[in-house]
Amino acid sequence: MEYKLGLLGYPISHSLSPWIYNQFLKQEKIKGTYTIFEVEENRLIDQVNKMKEKNFNGFNVTAPYKEKIIPLLDELDVSAQNIGAVNTVLIKNGQLTGYNTDAVGYLRSLEQYFPHLKQDKQQKILIIGAGGAARAIYYGLNRAGYISIDLTNRTLEKAHAITKIKSVETKSSVMSLEVAEKQLKEYDLVIQTTSVGMKPRLNEIPITLDGIRSRTIVSDIIYQPIWTKFLTEAKALNASIHHGHTMLLYQAQYAFEIWFGKKPTLKQMDEQLKRILE
Ligand code: ATR
Repeated sequence: MEYKLGLLGYPISHSLSPWIYNQFLKQEKIKGTYTIFEVEENRLIDQVNKMKEKNFNGFNVTAPYKEKIIPLLDELDVSAQNIGAVNTVLIKNGQLTGYNTDAVGYLRSLEQYFPHLKQDKQQKILIIGAGGAARAIYYGLNRAGYISIDLTNRTLEKAHAITKIKSVETKSSVMSLEVAEKQLKEYDLVIQTTSVGMKPRLNEIPITLDGIRSRTIVSDIIYQPIWTKFLTEAKALNASIHHGHTMLLYQAQYAFEIWFGKKPTLKQMDEQLKRILE
């Protein structure tokens, strides 16, 4: 049997997903194809129906359809319900179930590179940004038991809304970017989730990092470029760096597990992908 997988989004010509999933399929000796479907919004329903008819086993969803896909699905996993966005769909017996693998993906990548975090959930964490990615990361960290997760964002209401999704007792303050900048020395982990640092804002940073302690973990979920201005500044301040491409790999690994019940290893791919992106 040949498995059929794909990616839905617009535009997606530069996606790294085919590269990632084709390696997973090869590694696990599974025969399958991973196809890119760059569809405009008025063709979204048709495309989903087509994949059902053609017996696709699942697909990934990227911008701008992570929320728009929800009404087209039969069921939502608890992660997708809480995060309010879907990036992975499993098709089984004609039923479509939506998942969000970003929360687990981020957490796995973080704890893989900084294993001491698994034993110490008391770390003080700051998330910069309050978009979909910040929401998933907040949810993942909260569910994993981290007890102190603050948020800072240009638009404060969006950050306040994210703190409402907490299920485990977590202390969360919301603050402006200016205030966050002034109290950076309090944090053990700072996570950058905004689009600042990506094209066309390659030379910008959401906040300056001057106030951080050395060895603070500084994480940026942007992977193109792999060395954002934010991470370059963090490195110069002796921070420990957590790169965005690792979240990309680990969230894909979890999606693959949802589809096939198998967990491909990432060690070699991590280094390969880093080289591609550098
Ligand atoms: P994603 O789903 O990838 O997280 P998003 O939902 O568009 O993307 O969120 C983008 C994030 O980047 C938001 O936190 C946004 O801040 P606002 O909520 O105030 O819009 C942040 N962002 C984008 N451009 C920014 C800029 N120039 N300065 C500061 N923050 C910015």
